[in-house]
Amino acid sequence: MDIKESFLITLGDMRKIIKDFHREMEKGLSGRKSSLGMIPAYAARPTGSEKGSFIALDLGGTNFRVIEVELKGGGKSRILGVKNFTLNKNIITGSGERLFLFLASRVNDFIKSEAQGSGRRRELGFTFSFPVNQTGIASGTLVKWTKGFRAKGVEGADVVKLLNEALAKKGLGNIKVAALVNDTVGTLAARSYSDRACDVGVIIGTGTNACCAERPRTSGADEMIINIEWGNFNKLRRNSYDKELDRRSENPSHQVLEKMVSGMYLGGLAGLVLGAGSFSSRHMSEIESDVSRGLSRVGAIAGRLGIRAATPMERRFIKEVCCLISTRASRISAAALAAVVTKIDPKLSRRHTVAIDGSVYEKHPHFAKRMKLALREIFGSKASGIRIVLTKDGSGKGAAIIAAAAASKIWRHHDYKSESDRHAGEVAGE
Ligand code: GLC
Repeated sequence: MDIKESFLITLGDMRKIIKDFHREMEKGLSGRKSSLGMIPAYAARPTGSEKGSFIALDLGGTNFRVIEVELKGGGKSRILGVKNFTLNKNIITGSGERLFLFLASRVNDFIKSEAQGSGRRRELGFTFSFPVNQTGIASGTLVKWTKGFRAKGVEGADVVKLLNEALAKKGLGNIKVAALVNDTVGTLAARSYSDRACDVGVIIGTGTNACCAERPRTSGADEMIINIEWGNFNKLRRNSYDKELDRRSENPSHQVLEKMVSGMYLGGLAGLVLGAGSFSSRHMSEIESDVSRGLSRVGAIAGRLGIRAATPMERRFIKEVCCLISTRASRISAAALAAVVTKIDPKLSRRHTVAIDGSVYEKHPHFAKRMKLALREIFGSKASGIRIVLTKDGSGKGAAIIAAAAASKIWRHHDYKSESDRHAGEVAGE
């Protein structure tokens, strides 16, 4: 089979993905074995009336951030402060305790330099973008690390407990995790705070995943957001490069869709096809942006990576390989998204906003366009009822919003009697 054919996703393939996806979703929801997690988030979408100021800690990859958000109600909000931090390899592969103490220290730095009213009770939204077996709005155990994380002692442990303990050890007993959310859930919440039509959240960045708001089937039941964990979907045809990439990965046979779609792996696939070790997804974006006659950028990048690209034909081939791999990624994403939307609304009888974020979607020169074109192939003119909206940095903001909705419920579960709390109580009672 030639390279082109091995990366091709036809309309027929997309239809098959949709069918298999629906089947896996059903299995996951009914508790049967499935490659899709279908994990309840123990939260519904916000109403837009949530108010107050909340902190969020957003951990989804080696970069993480602490933010403070003021929710004003009426769908309006304002970011009061943001601080970005980087985790080095030692921390993400060392002990879990060290990782969480590091996170707590950074919250401390943030509180000292940015947040107002330190010392008083604060609720924190914790965006933890890994597969978590969520057991409540503020509890959940890590199922399995993804995206290169390996910190020991965290898989199987309650990550909210770990963070609360680390915060207390750092003298921040006045801050409690009010909500544990996946980044897709945060992204959905951030957009739906002001857009009622938003019912799907998607991330296509270092990793990839989606969540959706499940309408209650019985009247009176509450809506629930479901974290699909679509990165692990495994009903996809893999070629020899996919299999090789999987063998060399840290989590063989897991995250099959993610390995075909997300930024952590796209460059690696191109590297395997072209025989270049250090190929990254950013190189792919740069190569596919080169529209110069002689493909000079392609030549320069290939030169740096040690790929022969002397002749125009060689350069065209390199660009073509990148194009094949990223096009497949965009079409698989479109099919998965089509499956999610038709799961919640089989006939597309209403409008849907899809809140989306992530470096691949945002930064790749053609990804977003190709994904939308593929949706059009699948749905025809009905595709216009699906509005895909880039929701930048929504994951943290959304966690703060969900924390706001959950805030009232957490304090009575904690034995919290510090000086500052009594003081906060007095102030509140004035
Ligand atoms: C990985 C994680 C998932 C997250 C996604 C996007 O797939 O398992 O929880 O949502 O990356 O960051």
